Amino acid sequence: MTTLTIDPGEFASFQPQLDRPLDAKVRELQHQGRLHHMIFGAQLTPEVLEKIRAIADIIRAMARQRKSNDRLRQLLPHKRAMLYFTQPSTRTFLSFTAACQILGVTCNEVRDPKSSSEVKRESRMDSIRMFSSYFDVIIMRSEIAKFAECCSYMMNDLERQEMRSVPVINAGSGSDEHPTQALLDMYTILRTFDFDQSDKAKSSRLTVLREKYPDLEPSPNNKTYLFCGDIHRGRTVRSLATVLAQYSGVKLLFASPDHETLRLDSDLRERLTDAGAEVREFNSLDEDYDGQSLISQVDCLYTTRIQREHNTSDDSDELESLDLSPFQLTPERVASMKEFAPIMHPFPRDSIVNELPVEVDADPRAMYFRQARNGMWARAALLVHLFDAVDSLYMARDEVGMR
Ligand code: NCD
Repeated sequence: MTTLTIDPGEFASFQPQLDRPLDAKVRELQHQGRLHHMIFGAQLTPEVLEKIRAIADIIRAMARQRKSNDRLRQLLPHKRAMLYFTQPSTRTFLSFTAACQILGVTCNEVRDPKSSSEVKRESRMDSIRMFSSYFDVIIMRSEIAKFAECCSYMMNDLERQEMRSVPVINAGSGSDEHPTQALLDMYTILRTFDFDQSDKAKSSRLTVLREKYPDLEPSPNNKTYLFCGDIHRGRTVRSLATVLAQYSGVKLLFASPDHETLRLDSDLRERLTDAGAEVREFNSLDEDYDGQSLISQVDCLYTTRIQREHNTSDDSDELESLDLSPFQLTPERVASMKEFAPIMHPFPRDSIVNELPVEVDADPRAMYFRQARNGMWARAALLVHLFDAVDSLYMARDEVGMR
């Protein structure tokens, strides 16, 4: 499968906006100090993440009891969401659907553009504008990089012309960005390094760890993160690494086959080092880092699958013949990791390549199923934030006596 790029004809009018530096773009995606469109990982500053984390924690607590759960469903029943997912998705699609259901948001979907007027040569931008006529938020996944970004600029242009405009959420754009995955990954990281005691199942283990590692800062700061697998084409890696680089004292390590299609590209490296992160690259999980075994020094491991669907006829044979065993998270490698270091994966894992064997699933550090469930809470929290319903949420919590 080839990766589609923006058709210059269809999106040409957005080129000047696309060409601006990231800072300038991020500024115009906010509304009165809140996120409005969710397009880039860079929008998730530590302050925004703390806000969304607090909202997500309340939602998950309220969802536990029937009475408070019913009250949550009364929060946004006047809102409708369009899920426009023209690229395969299981977790992102279903967790957004579940997030809408939790908050009483009605949702509808277009997953196959062949079932829409795109077959009658309607332009994609016209389709998006039509969705905005019927829905209050457009959540979109596309294999076209920067398509969601262009849609947010179209909505801002409409708003300037005092026409109907709705927020756009990027649920994965080509190999470019996946900011809501970074949101749920950060929610998981924040909770993990907080040694959060609210989860009864985890609390005894965490109490022990807290006593054993008193110097471990309860935040993402001053930690070593290792990303492994398809670094260049993995949009989850791009978004999450960008967010982590904003924290202080962060080391970002990348382990991938030494192939230009897979290794860290110079753009991302520059973005991360400019933000102050220490960046290092490795060609195997068994390498040493500053004189000690790499894997034993990692505070958090984020492994990913090789994105084979982006192979081209030019590089496919070469990529398929690469030896991926140095990147497989075998139980032996896991055994040499720190006992508190979370093992993360955005999923899906590749059941043939087996970069993350099922034998690891029972390890208390395996975070990936929890990550997926966290996606539902984090995405519900994002909707509450975008729709400016935080005060209503606090009121609802007080009303059901959960303060
Ligand atoms: C990721 C994606 O779509 O980029 N999946 C997801 O949303 N959890 C990762 C992947 O497909 O490898």
